Amino acid sequence: MTSHPLDPLTQDEIARVRDIVRRDGGLSAAAWFETIALEEPAKQELVSGTARRAAFVCCYDPASGETWEGVLDLAAGQFRRWAVARGMHARIVADEFAAGGEAAKRDPRFIAACARRGITDLDSVLVEAWAAGYFGIPEEEGQRIAYGHCWVRNASGDNPYARPIANLHPVIDLRRMEVIRVDDFGIVPLPPDSADIIQPVTRTDLKPLEITQPEGPSFTVDGHAVRWQNWHIRVGFHVRDGLIFHEIGYEDKGRIRPIMHRASMAEMVVPYGDPTGGNYRRNAFDTGEYGVGQFLDSLTLGCDCLGLIHYFDGWSHDWQGNPKLIKNAICMHEEDFGTLWKFTNWLTGQVTVKRSRRLVISSVSTIGNYVYGFFWYFYQDGTIGVEVKATGIPFASALPVGEKPAYGALMAPGIAAHVHQHVFCYRFDMAVDGPRNSVKEVSFSALPMGEANPHGNAIGISETLLASEAGACRDIDLAAQRYWKVVNPNVVNALGEHPGYKLVPGVNAFPYQHPDSHVGRRAGFMYHHFWATPFAADELYPAGTYPNQHKGGDGLPAWTARDRALVNENVVVWYVMNYHHMPRPEDWPVQPCVYANFHWMPVGFFDANPALDVPSPKSKSSCCC
Ligand code: NI
Repeated sequence: MTSHPLDPLTQDEIARVRDIVRRDGGLSAAAWFETIALEEPAKQELVSGTARRAAFVCCYDPASGETWEGVLDLAAGQFRRWAVARGMHARIVADEFAAGGEAAKRDPRFIAACARRGITDLDSVLVEAWAAGYFGIPEEEGQRIAYGHCWVRNASGDNPYARPIANLHPVIDLRRMEVIRVDDFGIVPLPPDSADIIQPVTRTDLKPLEITQPEGPSFTVDGHAVRWQNWHIRVGFHVRDGLIFHEIGYEDKGRIRPIMHRASMAEMVVPYGDPTGGNYRRNAFDTGEYGVGQFLDSLTLGCDCLGLIHYFDGWSHDWQGNPKLIKNAICMHEEDFGTLWKFTNWLTGQVTVKRSRRLVISSVSTIGNYVYGFFWYFYQDGTIGVEVKATGIPFASALPVGEKPAYGALMAPGIAAHVHQHVFCYRFDMAVDGPRNSVKEVSFSALPMGEANPHGNAIGISETLLASEAGACRDIDLAAQRYWKVVNPNVVNALGEHPGYKLVPGVNAFPYQHPDSHVGRRAGFMYHHFWATPFAADELYPAGTYPNQHKGGDGLPAWTARDRALVNENVVVWYVMNYHHMPRPEDWPVQPCVYANFHWMPVGFFDANPALDVPSPKSKSSCCC
């Protein structure tokens, strides 16, 4: 296995970081680790071969209440930089999340509030220490807090989110692991049904479906480098971002042509639309407040993944900085995807069919009640597909049996789920045919009737160069069939055009949170679907590096206000995909996967269909393909 400067940190490297920080970091013994991850080398260092292994580290020290961050040179065993991130809050790590919930259950005020609801067995209560957000509440100012959401477990225990304890929210000081107050907005009866998700299996007509590849997979793997059907991809893991990619390129006429330097799902926020009680505080930034990488599932063959699978493990860490293996964190396999292209020549009767196959690389993150599958598809025609599959148990609330919710849907008697949105922000560090790119917006319109358009059928095509950041904050427009393309102005294809990749929107929506609301200010990125920025090493996360309890205004809105130039630059594209979710009774007690996706497609990147050379499948009948 070859190691590469972009490989994620190894078990030994994480342990080394832990030891050096404990020795030289000047922190108290109680300090915990938020992030130990690869500090990615600069592109020039990759080209010149001078990249040195380094780690980005972030810690929270409850003794001082300070968040520390820095970069550690692993070979030298020294900090390159190490300082307090003043006024910033580290993400809530998994152990802290659990400890915060347990702390709430020890508080006499919380125990009394449970007793008023007839709950005396605290072992049956689940308190989740949700990121508190920022709402300008004076007594929360400057503290490290979590806002608790509570459930009482049903008898079978298979669905811990079936019976919400409505209107009860302990406000937890995560620094001292104690409750600062209990928000109690009034008693609502507990939902009557235990909503078990494990039910008797009554379908007996399902025959086995086996995927076999008797000659093995068509991909090759060397460490984190993958080659498949002209694709060259580096698969990575980050404790915050989860699944990431580097150096995505396509081999064309013997030359690897770069497309993206780095691709990741950089942030997400799930604002809920119910203003009553404490429900307005449900606005999970799953990446920036928690980190999807630390919650990746260990996937299992035959259950999560079908066929001939290659798994990548992920090295995460616990809050003590101890390396923690996520076995089978990333799944890779090939899938048949129907017809790639087909033509039947009716004059000769000749039929030509090529079957499409795609390389699927995915991970699944379980964050409390919700489960997100992050899927990336690489196709033989140069298309890249990006998809989220959302499943798990909807975040429900209780209401008296017989009542209907004003801001959501009735899921079951006494159970409501509120309307909400899942807003994902993907970051693409582009490198279409080289490091310097430009961005164009393409729109279509019905041209006015007149001399040039006497039949009224003319479709106008407008292509606008997005020359700088301020003009590159754009939204989808169905009437204009709008899309964006990233081109390399320094290269021409066989037709004399600049090669490009276009971003084709799929499922999307507009946000309903008021831009002046607290969550609106903190998630400013969600107010445009498309953003472009020139590359900056410290601009990785669209709501800023530290969205936890942040007042807002950081990230994309702040960066793009500088209106930096975008022409023939190292362009970074940010795409915001908003899945609007009005729950249905069919989402209860567990939600079938819902899908949201978009694509990157080559546009003039190739001189013609790049998949003409795909072999025809062998016919299984008398006829030939
Ligand atoms: Ni949802």
